[in-house]
Amino acid sequence: MDVIEAMETCRAIRYLKPDPVPQELIERVIYAATRASSPGNSQGWDFVVLRDRATKEKLGPVIRERLLPLIQRVPATPGSVARTVAGAQHLVREFENVPVWIIVCGRKVYPPGAATDQMVDAALYPAAQNLIVAARSLGLGTTFTTLQVATENEMREVLGIPADCSIAVCIALGYPDRPFGPVKRKPVSEVIHWERW
Ligand SMILES: Cc1cc2nc3c(=O)[nH]c(=O)nc-3n(C[C@H](O)[C@H](O)[C@H](O)COP(=O)(O)O)c2cc1C
Repeated sequence: MDVIEAMETCRAIRYLKPDPVPQELIERVIYAATRASSPGNSQGWDFVVLRDRATKEKLGPVIRERLLPLIQRVPATPGSVARTVAGAQHLVREFENVPVWIIVCGRKVYPPGAATDQMVDAALYPAAQNLIVAARSLGLGTTFTTLQVATENEMREVLGIPADCSIAVCIALGYPDRPFGPVKRKPVSEVIHWERW
């Protein structure tokens, strides 16, 4: 599979089999993540890999308590949004049964408040995107989530994430229980501006 084919079929996979993911594959996708670009090659990223059920059980209840009401407030519209909401709820309900959660974190490498500060958080997303595309190419499903928005303190405490590290995204990883499929995106002709807007 070439890299563009992996990108065009890299749907959010919110239904995952409980089968464990071999450690070498987890290391491989994190290797791919760490090949990403970053400002000044600062590479200010860290990855917390959560596989242990006992640890997941410490976070699952608070994640469900805080996230389910938030997800329920997303207005259901026909088509993919209703499916997205149902899938997002499923992922939160099944938090402990997701084989692997990868929490993408990063330390500020510029002084707080510096004009370049925000680049560091932004730099975590190319790494995260590399990770999900690499996972797709290896037959593994992923979903980007922002579970930390409502549970950041608990996540820091349970996982020992230092206070000077921001949490960019929590990625669910496992073998897909639903097919990979073509992603639905706007046609390029709608978003491309040649020479000027
Ligand atoms: C920054 C970011 C945050 C996201 N947060 C969530 C989330 O919390 N829960 C979830 O189920 N999906 C989340 N997603 C996945 C998107 O909802 C999904 O990619 C989008 O609906 C398009 O669907 P597709 O990737 O399957 O084509 C997030 C994606 C991004 C980029």
